[in-house]
This record gives sequence, structure tokens and C-alpha cells, in this order.
Amino acid sequence: MQTLAGKVALITGAGRRKGLGYAIARRLAADGAAIALSDLAEPRELMESDRIGTRAELEELAAELRAGGTRAVAIPLDVTDETSVDAAFDACVRELGRLDVLVNNAGIGYLIHPLAETPKASWDAVMGVNLTGAFLCSRAAARIMIRQGQGGRIVNIASQAAKSGFPHMAAYVASKHGLVGLTRTSAIELGPHGVTVNAVCPNHVTTGLGAVQNEYFARYFGQSVEEYLSAMRRSIPMRREGLQDDTAEAVAFLCSPRAAYVTGEAMNVSGGCEMH
Ligand SMILES: NC(=O)c1ccc[n+]([C@@H]2O[C@H](COP(=O)([O-])OP(=O)(O)OC[C@H]3O[C@@H](n4cnc5c(N)ncnc54)[C@H](O)[C@@H]3O)[C@@H](O)[C@H]2O)c1
Repeated sequence: MQTLAGKVALITGAGRRKGLGYAIARRLAADGAAIALSDLAEPRELMESDRIGTRAELEELAAELRAGGTRAVAIPLDVTDETSVDAAFDACVRELGRLDVLVNNAGIGYLIHPLAETPKASWDAVMGVNLTGAFLCSRAAARIMIRQGQGGRIVNIASQAAKSGFPHMAAYVASKHGLVGLTRTSAIELGPHGVTVNAVCPNHVTTGLGAVQNEYFARYFGQSVEEYLSAMRRSIPMRREGLQDDTAEAVAFLCSPRAAYVTGEAMNVSGGCEMH
């Protein structure tokens, strides 16, 4: 049954083929949602074109969704920029008619440094996208969902790093812990409007962002990437890395009517790596 038929979902940072965002978009489309596929589109300092969803890739993926029968639009969106956020949410409502689901997926996980060597610019960039970006998009979505008066869903893609510390990733870990705080407060405020707000906390997935982490930490431990990944797999109770679809399934559940009474959660999708 298409539980999201007639609903519209906007997903941030979803313009990379191997990314979690595009897997989530495909999964919500399979449940019948129209999709506003958004991403940064233009490279900038610290966010070069091989690290982001470019305009060409974003448009290609939206066209692919349309070819599969989904109503889908590509919307360039810099989540750190208030004007860009408001324009993107306006465009979503103008082109697809409404907004029922926001997935805050945009993230930076590749600016990795020992704490004592972390440049403030890296800290600011990670916080700006992972936490401030999620706030700006949640605020824009909340305004629309409250106005529509028909409830809604917000899902924040946090991380295992929202539950535990990891070396050389102070900004990332702090931003993801903060995202769970944003989730809890948003859930309390938006509950009376029928809007649920939850976080999903995946463990490692070899996306574009994940591949940079593999290379960095393999180097750090003096291993090949394959040796590093094998050791990681042995440490995971389910004995494999996460897959994009593992996260997409959890998001689909949280967006479905089956999860109508689930809010304020930070759900691990980690093969047993995190249990709290
Ligand atoms: N891959 C993993 O191991 C893993 C694990 C846990 C959580 N996550 C989280 O999942 C989310 C998706 O990451 P991914 O692994 O699919 O990597 P990814 O690189 O495919 O996706 C991140 C996306 O964020 C976008 N982005 C960056 N800055 C932006 C901005 N200012 N405005 C809009 N979009 C911006 C990028 O263009 C990119 O498309 C991130 O929030 C990440 O922290 C990833």
C-alpha cells in the first residue's frame, strides 16, 4: 500500500547517487510521496565538487525519479543560508503543492582533524551544515506544517556519533549530539500540531562522505582501506557495515502512519554498534 500517496517530502543533501539522501528519496517515492530533491548544487570553499551534490547530479537524479513515475523536482538549497532555505521551501510548496515530510540529511563528515589542530573554519562549516542547517530547515518546515494543519513528519539524520565520541571528529560529534537535542525540543513543540520529529542514528556507511572517513582512518591506523573495513566489520554485532537502504527503511517507517505515536526518538540503525 502506498502510505505516502498525496504527500510531499523534501530531502536535503540528496543529490549524490551513493548518498543516504537519494536512497531515502527513492524509498519515500516507493511509498507514493512526491519528492523535492535538494542539494547544495554549487561548490564552495571546503566543499569542492567531488564532495557535494552538484547541480548536474541533482537534476539527473530527479529526472530518474520522474522516469520511475514519481512527481519530483530538483531544488538547489544551501541549508546554511536563511534566504536559500526559505526560497527552497517556497519552491517546494509552489511546485508540489504542500509539504508533509522533511528529512534533514545534509551533512559534512569529512573535515577531520585532531582536536588541538582543528581550524575554526572547519568547526564552523560542520556546525553550520549539520546543526544550524537542520534548525533553519526545521523552522521553515514547521511554519508550513502548522499552517497546513494536517500534521507532518520531520526526520533528522544524526549518526552513531550522536551517541558516542569518535577521535578527530569533535565538530561532527558535537553537531550530531546537538541534532538529537534539536529533535527532542522540536518533538515537544510540534507534537500538539500532529508533527512527529525523530532522529535516525546510522553507523558507518560507505557513501561519498563515508569513503573519505575510510581513507582517513585507514591511514591513521596504518592499514589499507580493506584492512580497516575488515576490522570494523568484526567489531559490529551484525558483522557488516550499514547500507544506504538500512537508513532509508527506518526513515520510511518513521514517516509512515505506523509510527504516528513515535516522536522525540533517536533510533539507532547501527547493526548493534550503539544500544542506547
Ligand atoms: N555515511 C555514513 O557513514 C554516515 C553515518 C551516519 C550518519 N551520516 C549522515 O548522513 C547524512 C548524509 O551523508 P552521506 O554519508 O550520505 O554523505 P553524502 O556526502 O552523500 O551526503 C551529504 C550531502 O550533504 C550535502 N551538503 C553539504 N553541505 C550542504 C549545504 N550547505 N546545503 C545543502 N546540502 C549540503 C552534500 O552536497 C551531500 O550531498 C549526513 O548528515 C551524515 O552526517 C552518514
